[in-house]
Amino acid sequence: MLIPPPLSLYIHIPWCVKKCPYCDFNSHGQSGELPVREYIAALERDLEQDLPLAWGRTVHSVFFGGGTPSLFPPEAIGDILAACSARLRFAPGAEITMECNPGTAEFGRFEGYRAAGVNRVSFGIQSFDDGCLARLGRIHDSAEAERAVKLAQDAGLDNLNLDLMYALPGQDLAMALHDVERAIALQPAHLSHYQLTLEPNTAFAARPPEGLPDEDTAWDIQERCIEAMAAAGYAQYEVSAYARPGRQCAHNLNYWRFGDYLGIGAGAHGKLSLGATGEVRRRWKVKNPRDYLAHAGTPRGIGGDDAIAPENLPFDYMLNALRLVEGFDLADFESRTGLSREAIAGELATARERGWLEADGSRWRPTELGRRFTNDVIGLFLRD
Ligand SMILES: C[S@@+](CC[C@H](N)C(=O)[O-])C[C@H]1O[C@@H](n2cnc3c(N)ncnc32)[C@H](O)[C@@H]1O
Ligand code: SF4
Repeated sequence: MLIPPPLSLYIHIPWCVKKCPYCDFNSHGQSGELPVREYIAALERDLEQDLPLAWGRTVHSVFFGGGTPSLFPPEAIGDILAACSARLRFAPGAEITMECNPGTAEFGRFEGYRAAGVNRVSFGIQSFDDGCLARLGRIHDSAEAERAVKLAQDAGLDNLNLDLMYALPGQDLAMALHDVERAIALQPAHLSHYQLTLEPNTAFAARPPEGLPDEDTAWDIQERCIEAMAAAGYAQYEVSAYARPGRQCAHNLNYWRFGDYLGIGAGAHGKLSLGATGEVRRRWKVKNPRDYLAHAGTPRGIGGDDAIAPENLPFDYMLNALRLVEGFDLADFESRTGLSREAIAGELATARERGWLEADGSRWRPTELGRRFTNDVIGLFLRD
């Protein structure tokens, strides 16, 4: 039987100073002043419209993602949080993360974000090599990135994540390891280490940059960086996520454990388990910021709203759960999809035969081989 899992809240801010050539997030280069007040009003209308999906439930984490949420001043972030907590119950001590581009970090702002309720900041560092940063079209250099992290620490924010990307144009193993070492030297609680991917419809996909490392080099970089992070106390708990003990990202863990989330803002996605109908629904909002500002809170502000077909639930569940080092428990699979474990018994047996998954009682985990072929393992659960 479907049992509603913990609930999170995602808030999307769709603007950046300028669009990076590798990025396929719903982010738009800023032109002129941002319509901050109008956007806050739109978020409020949007949330009002979604509330019936989450009556009576408690929010366990909030994530301001983008785009670049740090383009919004602390008062705006505070007003958004006030509007949300007036309508939804926040769990005491809920994790509240804000993404920050180091090129937007201004002196004095982090105190304001903290006062507004933000207790975790995720920095888009990407690399500490100024040549790599320039080739990635970033708006900051490595000195600015280090300064931004220190400003947040000085403001008393101690739960920090640093995003790094690897397999960058012109990067070799030594350079990638050096990036990880510079990140560790700043002593964040959490590191995200993403392999650069050429996403369709980006400037990099249209004209791939020169000097991209091949797949074997990328794998070597990942393995050696995992070792370096582990030696410094950052344990891998997901394909791209590493944390000191007890500092895993509660918000992202909830996604990967197939938890529920409301998504407000341009292009934001939500996923909710409706106990009454036994459905798992996905709802997403219109992507274009102008359309969103005009229509948020009305049916035209909704980009789509679908119940996940029961035959697709195993794939959707595994797409998340098999990213985790901890894997999943069959009891959670049942309560979060509403399906019986029999529904995936065949695929699990195949994955075990191929050496991709191993079981310990009712818990299933990716093996080392399975971690190398995550997409193939997940693909087993795709129904046509
Ligand atoms: C929404 S951005 C983070 C905050 C902020 N916008 C910034 O870039 O500073 C999320 C992260 O996704 C990662 N990312 C974006 N595009 C990527 C790509 N094509 N391949 C791998 N990682 C990517 C970057 O590390 C980026 O920091
Ligand atoms: S990587 Fe970050 S700053 Fe660059 S365009 Fe994407 S969301 Fe904006």
